[in-house]
Amino acid sequence: GNKDQEIMKNVPLSEMKKLPACHMELEKLSFSKDHTVLVNVHDFYKGQLIPQKGHPRWDSHFVKMPYSDENVMHHRWKNISKYLSQIPRAPSTVDVENVIKKYNPKYKDQWSFDALHCFFKSIPKEEREAVSCTMYRMAKLALNLPEICPKAIPLLRQGHSHAITLSQLQIACLLANAFYCTFPHRNATHRNAEYSNFATINFSSLFTGSSERKEQKFKALFIYFKVVTDKEKCPHGLVTFQRCYLFNQPDWKRNSVTLSKLHISSEGTIEEKGAGMLQVDFACSLVGGGVLGSGLVQEEILFLTHPELIVARLFTERLDHLECLKITGVQQYSNYTGYSDSFRCTGSHLDNTKRDEWNRLHRQIVAIDAMNFKCYKEQFTVKNVLRELNKAYCGFQRDFNMPPDYLPAVATGKWGCGAFSGDPKLKALIQLMAAAVAQRDVAYFTFKDYGLEQEVQRMHHFLVSRKVTVGEWHTSVVHQYLQPHPVQLNCLFSTGRLYQTLENYFDYLYKPREPQDLYSF
Ligand code: AR6
Repeated sequence: GNKDQEIMKNVPLSEMKKLPACHMELEKLSFSKDHTVLVNVHDFYKGQLIPQKGHPRWDSHFVKMPYSDENVMHHRWKNISKYLSQIPRAPSTVDVENVIKKYNPKYKDQWSFDALHCFFKSIPKEEREAVSCTMYRMAKLALNLPEICPKAIPLLRQGHSHAITLSQLQIACLLANAFYCTFPHRNATHRNAEYSNFATINFSSLFTGSSERKEQKFKALFIYFKVVTDKEKCPHGLVTFQRCYLFNQPDWKRNSVTLSKLHISSEGTIEEKGAGMLQVDFACSLVGGGVLGSGLVQEEILFLTHPELIVARLFTERLDHLECLKITGVQQYSNYTGYSDSFRCTGSHLDNTKRDEWNRLHRQIVAIDAMNFKCYKEQFTVKNVLRELNKAYCGFQRDFNMPPDYLPAVATGKWGCGAFSGDPKLKALIQLMAAAVAQRDVAYFTFKDYGLEQEVQRMHHFLVSRKVTVGEWHTSVVHQYLQPHPVQLNCLFSTGRLYQTLENYFDYLYKPREPQDLYSF
């Protein structure tokens, strides 16, 4: 009928559901056992952002705060405050290095700050003065941690769904501390280290190994810190980080939904063209990936242009197979051009995104980590296809019983197909299936891959026109075909004929033929 006709074509971007237009009114902001709110909710409704009172905790369920009484090692807060408050009004990066090393004596000879110094030397004088002033204000802000974040921050641990809502000022204060490397127990990186299942958060790794990439990273980060350390300019909103564990996996075999609408384009990026949609972060299981190192692909760029995302590294344990991290309300502070080695930070960005009732920007990002396939063929096993289906579904799943009318489309692209060397066509299908079950439309940005745009569009058209359900796709392709014929299929996949094979296969299924024909393609 008409509906199928609609779904078959390449739907224009304007027809994709987006925030704030599809926003469903939120319940009152409140804390619960699954939701920690670090600002006082009563004051919030009186129009004031006041930190929720509390005490730090020193155990395996909470972030160990540098100002905790238990932080007696070399890092103790007295020491940190003493040296941080000695930072001169216009510090050089050498002053910064010296101070950081004063309260991190163990790393005095290990940590190098050459990347920071190089960046500092490379910028014009006025910019250098601004960065210097920003570093001074960052030290002041970092020192206010006990007042700004008095309440214990829970760790978002594996196997648990939990959300943390905090203010943009609290995030800035935590990140200023990360820059000044004050977080205890977060420097050791060996296997058995207490936080070995967490990403790094202290910035020490960013300071070392000077390169063009690092210069561009510092440029973006100082744009952020300049805004948030300016009392007049620091935004007053909230941000929510929600770890979601997929307790109920879909029954892929028996699912009777057909594909949802698709907009596909080789032009534009997820963050720009996908504004207002659920934007996919092509994540590392340790969220943020190489943002504090030398990595500079989709996830790292997202974290650099929206640095509030970096704070997720402080409290998010490595994502497991059935988990994702959803982030609502982070702000974009800078613009960029290029990618990877050609990435350039092109200056500050004025973010005009509207805010919701909790004063969060209408921006939803979901971090889902694809599998990193060392060998191309691995991804075609039933087990690995299922893993990626569940991972994508976990990310796209709606909250509770949100009616589909209120679900923004998924904005995605070649998830897992760059650094993680997945097959773009297989991954596109997996994401289309997961989005269909989650009842979301899909905006797919192929990032200048015109061939892929054509092929995915054609495949989508094919599956919709034959009314192939997710269950049929899964049973026939994954179970009846992939499982018994992995080698044969691998061959077809790797010669780039995946979609043609699928078309032939469905033709075979729908027009009864002799069984031996199955082996003829
Ligand atoms: N919008 C749309 N498509 C994009 C964008 C964008 N903004 N940026 C890149 N692409 P990749 P992965 C396309 O390699 O394979 C990081 O270190 C582009 O074609 O970032 O899942 C993480 O921390 C690119 O080749 O994702 C992980 O450790 C493709 O998307 C790891 O990389 C894939 O982008 C994840 O690697």
